[in-house]
Amino acid sequence: MRILLTAGGNPISINIAIVIVTLTELETLLMHPSCDPAISSASAAAAIPFRTLASGAHLPAIGLGTFGSDHVTHAAVAEAVKFAASVGYRHFDCASVYGNEAQIGEAFEEIIRSGIPRDQLWVTSKLWNDMHAPEDVISSCRKSLDNLRLEYLDLFLVHWPFPNHHPPSCDVSVRNPHARPYIHESYMRTWRAMEELVDRGWVRHIGSSNMTQPKMELLLRDVRIKPAVNEMELHPHFQQTAFFRYLVERGVQPIGYSPIGSPARPDRDRTPEDTSPTEDPVIRAIAEKHGVHPAVVCLKWAVQRGVVPIPFSTTPRNIVANQQGVTGDPLSAAEMDAIAAIDRNCRLIKGHVFLWKENQSWEDLWDMNGEITPA
Ligand SMILES: NC(=O)c1ccc[n+]([C@@H]2O[C@H](COP(=O)([O-])OP(=O)(O)OC[C@H]3O[C@@H](n4cnc5c(N)ncnc54)[C@H](OP(=O)(O)O)[C@@H]3O)[C@@H](O)[C@H]2O)c1
Repeated sequence: MRILLTAGGNPISINIAIVIVTLTELETLLMHPSCDPAISSASAAAAIPFRTLASGAHLPAIGLGTFGSDHVTHAAVAEAVKFAASVGYRHFDCASVYGNEAQIGEAFEEIIRSGIPRDQLWVTSKLWNDMHAPEDVISSCRKSLDNLRLEYLDLFLVHWPFPNHHPPSCDVSVRNPHARPYIHESYMRTWRAMEELVDRGWVRHIGSSNMTQPKMELLLRDVRIKPAVNEMELHPHFQQTAFFRYLVERGVQPIGYSPIGSPARPDRDRTPEDTSPTEDPVIRAIAEKHGVHPAVVCLKWAVQRGVVPIPFSTTPRNIVANQQGVTGDPLSAAEMDAIAAIDRNCRLIKGHVFLWKENQSWEDLWDMNGEITPA
């Protein structure tokens, strides 16, 4: 279509092409106006800071969580992964128990076909709790690789240190009669199989998740291959300062899950004592000053503190805001100090379902008095 306009009395004509774009593409174009989406994605990716792991590998300082829980479909999560890659995300936090690795694998295939090389992606997966037997570690990793359509994982984590299965979406009061406490010798048998995965070239790094300092002390004492990371709940209301420092001092990178305080977690995962970092007046005031959502302040704080947050989102605007939040307009030292002072020691993901006997409280999972809770 050709339109004739006048500017300062001089006629100008412009050509208007009518194109059909999907909503996702439109959002991408509006928020990243570069002509070539591949260039736009690459330059956005290059702007994301990274953490250098003990191995020398670069881990992008923000990743996309992929746990849709029971309210986001697998297809919607896979769409979010594709959208995130198109706007520059390169780090994706997956797990077999999220049930969506097959759909995310299709997304990765498309992402790589679109021109983003595999070696620029960082893909994490995790071993679920009913697969701790050494032979299951190998088969579980194989299944994740096949589902994700990858030849190797950048990182494979032991999801929880307890070999306790429970049905997906069950209530926190459900107990597995076969549940067991943490037994270090058993965990090390699992770890040896994790090390074998590195030897086989199936995974580049291995790590732990939901550990405590007493458990980590034993693991670091006994490993052949050190955990590259520990994935753990970290947000302004649950800062785990002592354990965080312990890990950093030993070259274990903390990855922060539920970095926004998991505002959409199901009711069964909520207790009356829970607090919300995004509703904290300190976070809200800083957000207002920077003109961003409080969620973005939580992520800025995490990255500046040295955590690698993995926020979940399927909302394109939020996916972009979270990424842009960690690439510019940093928090001041005073703002960082103000957030450090609002820690409520409020663990949101308590893990009730992993308890191994009746009449226990969830605190038993977390070695609150500095020693591994005995059987
Ligand atoms: N290792 C483990 O045991 C473990 C445990 C829990 C979680 N994880 C990992 O950590 C990831 C993140 O944790 P999470 O899902 O519990 O919680 P989260 O990332 O703290 O919160 C996600 C929620 O925040 C909203 N959100 C994201 N960005 C936002 C923004 N800029 N403005 C407003 N709202 C925003 C999302 O809604 P929209 O979708 O609408 O944006 C979503 O409802 C998981 O997906 C999973 O990969 C690991």
